[in-house]
Amino acid sequence: MERGLTLHVEVFPDPSGVVRALANRIVKAAEEAVARSGRFALAISGGATPEPLFDLLGDSYYPKLPWTKTDLFWVDERAVAPDDPRSNFGAARRRMAPVFQADAARIHRIRGEADLPEHAADEYERELHRFFGKAPPGESKTFDLLLLGIGPDGHTASLFPGSPALEERTRWVRAVPAASRDPRVARITLTLPAIDAAREVAFLVTGADKSRVVRRILFEHGPDPAPWPAARVRPQGPLRWYLDRAAAGEPPR
Ligand code: 6PG
Repeated sequence: MERGLTLHVEVFPDPSGVVRALANRIVKAAEEAVARSGRFALAISGGATPEPLFDLLGDSYYPKLPWTKTDLFWVDERAVAPDDPRSNFGAARRRMAPVFQADAARIHRIRGEADLPEHAADEYERELHRFFGKAPPGESKTFDLLLLGIGPDGHTASLFPGSPALEERTRWVRAVPAASRDPRVARITLTLPAIDAAREVAFLVTGADKSRVVRRILFEHGPDPAPWPAARVRPQGPLRWYLDRAAAGEPPR
């Protein structure tokens, strides 16, 4: 019997409305997490879509979040150095600078510059198990909130259609070879078990180029397993889609 899925879909007129709604959810999730366990474990995605969200979190929303109790993680990273323009860590650091001036121990980056992506994946796997293994008894042993994007091919994090990493059932982190799409570099990615263990998952999707895959996943797809990796995300807790009208395939008003 498949576990039930709590699905929420919210559509906003434009990207700024989507980003603000998600920023408000992040604030609320942080309050809930700190009240529950004294800390907030947030995993963020890469790519261009979340950049306006990072701008908010590093500026007007910065005072609203308990950064001294927040541990920041990444859902994936490119196999590049942190100062490489393709680095997800570097992109977040540029846009959320004040967050990175706080306690460095709370920033859990994936070492994209490691000699082999597999070594970076092993390190990050150990880091996650060390961090969540210390969770207070009975407390969530994973992310309180995990943010994902989606590509037009339905990939999420760095789980691409047909990738063997999609079939991973035990490891939380895997290295994957260079993507067949830009940036064409090897990646390190959370796996479905790690994503599904999250207390809550939020997809942030904007732009008409995503509307076809969003509609197929949310409204049309048939029996599992879906060909789109994003459709296979089944978190323990709520799964929320934050969309603008373009990504929802709705004509601009
Ligand atoms: C990455 C992301 C990736 C991203 C999608 C969408 O490392 O690139 O984790 O999964 O979310 O590719 O990217 P855009 O937001 O740039 O469209």
